Amino acid sequence: MYPILPERPSDAAQIDTLLDLTFGSDRTRKTVYRLRENVAHVKALAFVVRDEDGVVLGSIRYWPVAIGEQAAPAIMLGPVTVHPDYQGQGIGRALIRHSLYTATRLGHGLCILVGDKPYYEPFGFVGAADRGLEMPGWVERERFQVMELAAGALQGVSGMVGKPVKTSRKKAAA
Ligand SMILES: CC(C)(COP(=O)(O)OP(=O)(O)OC[C@H]1O[C@@H](n2cnc3c(N)ncnc32)[C@H](O)[C@@H]1OP(=O)(O)O)[C@@H](O)C(=O)NCCC(=O)NCCS
Repeated sequence: MYPILPERPSDAAQIDTLLDLTFGSDRTRKTVYRLRENVAHVKALAFVVRDEDGVVLGSIRYWPVAIGEQAAPAIMLGPVTVHPDYQGQGIGRALIRHSLYTATRLGHGLCILVGDKPYYEPFGFVGAADRGLEMPGWVERERFQVMELAAGALQGVSGMVGKPVKTSRKKAAA
């Protein structure tokens, strides 16, 4: 099994190429990308798998978000991607498990995502719309999911997912 390693700045170009390959070059038209625009991903939760030559075979990143009028902080899982030639070997699951474990250890309480329900359900994700969360733009209801990383973190949290508060303030002041 390949080790899960922290992403390095020099991995960025390879990750973009991999994302274009697995999601298509029109991937940035998706609703989740509106939440990522002009917001940096969470560096401590960016991991890759590389082969012996340093070629990136898999990647996972998270973005910070805020939920509802109370701007409850959360992280948004994705994108996660594995090179087609290396899929089905457990790399995706290992990237997700390792990063969710790290996120929990770092004190993140809530994680959301838009993705295939059958793939994410075993990690503990549940329907987010059923729990009163909304996405800004159209997403298939069952693909929008949430997981508590800290027990009770969803209590009192509902409403629209948006960009993190700090970024919005900076933009407003600019
Ligand atoms: C989805 C993805 C990250 C999974 O990575 P991976 O390394 O191939 O996955 P793993 O080897 O850890 O897990 C493989 C298992 O997940 C299942 N699986 C893979 N993609 C799935 C999906 N979209 N929905 C449901 N199950 C899926 C496989 O059938 C396999 O099941 P099995 O173990 O019972 O045989 C990878 O296939 C990928 O990059 N796909 C294209 C990009 C993408 O769709 N990413 C986001 C998914 S919402």
